[in-house]
Amino acid sequence: MPRLNDVRGLPTTGLNAEQLLHYESLLVDIYTYRPGVQARVDALLHQSPDFVMGHVLRGYALMTDGLRSGVPEARRYLAQAQQLAAGGTERERLHIQTLQAWVDGRGADRLQALESILARWPLDLLAYRQLTAMLFWTGDKRRQLASAMQAVPHWQPDVPGFALTLGPLAFALEEDGRYALAETHAQQALAYHDADLWALHALAHVYEMQGRVREGDATLSAVAPRLKDFNLFRGHVWWHLALFRMAQGRMDEVLDLLDREILPATSMFYLDIQNAASLLARLEIQGVNVGERWERVADSAEQTLGQHLVVFTAPHQAMALARSGRRQALAQALKGFQDDAQAGVEQAQTGAAVSAALALYGTGEYAKFLDLMRVLRYEAASLGASHAQQDLYFQLMVDAALRIDELPLARSLLKERLVKHFSDAVGWQRYQEMAGLIDAASDPQSLRRLLRTGLPQ
Ligand SMILES: [Fe+2]
Repeated sequence: MPRLNDVRGLPTTGLNAEQLLHYESLLVDIYTYRPGVQARVDALLHQSPDFVMGHVLRGYALMTDGLRSGVPEARRYLAQAQQLAAGGTERERLHIQTLQAWVDGRGADRLQALESILARWPLDLLAYRQLTAMLFWTGDKRRQLASAMQAVPHWQPDVPGFALTLGPLAFALEEDGRYALAETHAQQALAYHDADLWALHALAHVYEMQGRVREGDATLSAVAPRLKDFNLFRGHVWWHLALFRMAQGRMDEVLDLLDREILPATSMFYLDIQNAASLLARLEIQGVNVGERWERVADSAEQTLGQHLVVFTAPHQAMALARSGRRQALAQALKGFQDDAQAGVEQAQTGAAVSAALALYGTGEYAKFLDLMRVLRYEAASLGASHAQQDLYFQLMVDAALRIDELPLARSLLKERLVKHFSDAVGWQRYQEMAGLIDAASDPQSLRRLLRTGLPQ
């Protein structure tokens, strides 16, 4: 089998020089969220069946889709990679181990294999992006930053792919509350590729956490006309724009974004379900009549029952089924999550508990929901996702407390949800101002309005 170095000097099995350059362009397109890349990987594999990393890459992509129905096909790619493993490099064999651990649902082993690759080959762009992405769904934000920190110093601006290391670093910095550094790195990435969607997304999170609503709106609005050129991740960028619009009270526009971009039709994609359910819940908390829109989310949830590998999806499915009154499907969903927990599926125990809680909110059993969710509210972060997404739990708890006239509890939760929104003396001052507003608000509607954003600008 041929073995040549890739553009970063890493030996890669099964491709000639021209094909290696093509592989590099595929990696760049994957990590700039371009659509249609997997068919091109297949075409390359058709030309070069000995391309070990091609099989691994296809397996990774199928697992990234996040559906159990994709696992058998991922296993077929894994088996093909394993047949070639003896002729591959040690680095490639570690990627095969990573994929094996992923399809087996052994997260700790997957994490360790990726860390082992990066410790020895920090210029392995695929391993770097896989590791930082994986840690998004474990909720281990400090570790996400630590992983990026270990690899990034090995990258110089003249190393091909350098720009694609900056978005994950920016996002990890943001989730760890280091907003100024996060913004600097996101802007640096965008200076290389003005449509680096992950860097743009990291910047949107900085604006969201710091309450910079107008900057967030302007930044995402500027790129909005081009979002159709990206893969399904674009829906989450639209979700962020919807949050900025909601913070400005532009609720009709939020509904329009939901209908046109965030969930225009039923979807199997976990992020679509999360985005839409979370947005509808926030709209309802703000008193907006969302009409029949829960039906579309519930259809999406119901047609993918038992399918989602990203456990953070489960509470959103439960809420959508509850809000649309689908008692039977809801019971089936909750049983499925319980079965996963009993079978020892990773994160499933917390996922089942949080889902059961959100189902209670969705069916209007607010006191019971609060009893459960208050116990789970920190543990729930282990299901992963960003602080902005996890804020849903606090949104629902504040709303539930107001519905049962527990104003002191609502005020307490409103303050508590701001714990991630400040990182310096100026932020602390703004927190104190916000706390004053929370204590001064005397009616439920005023308190709910304070949920539209984090700290006031
Ligand atoms: Fe996000």
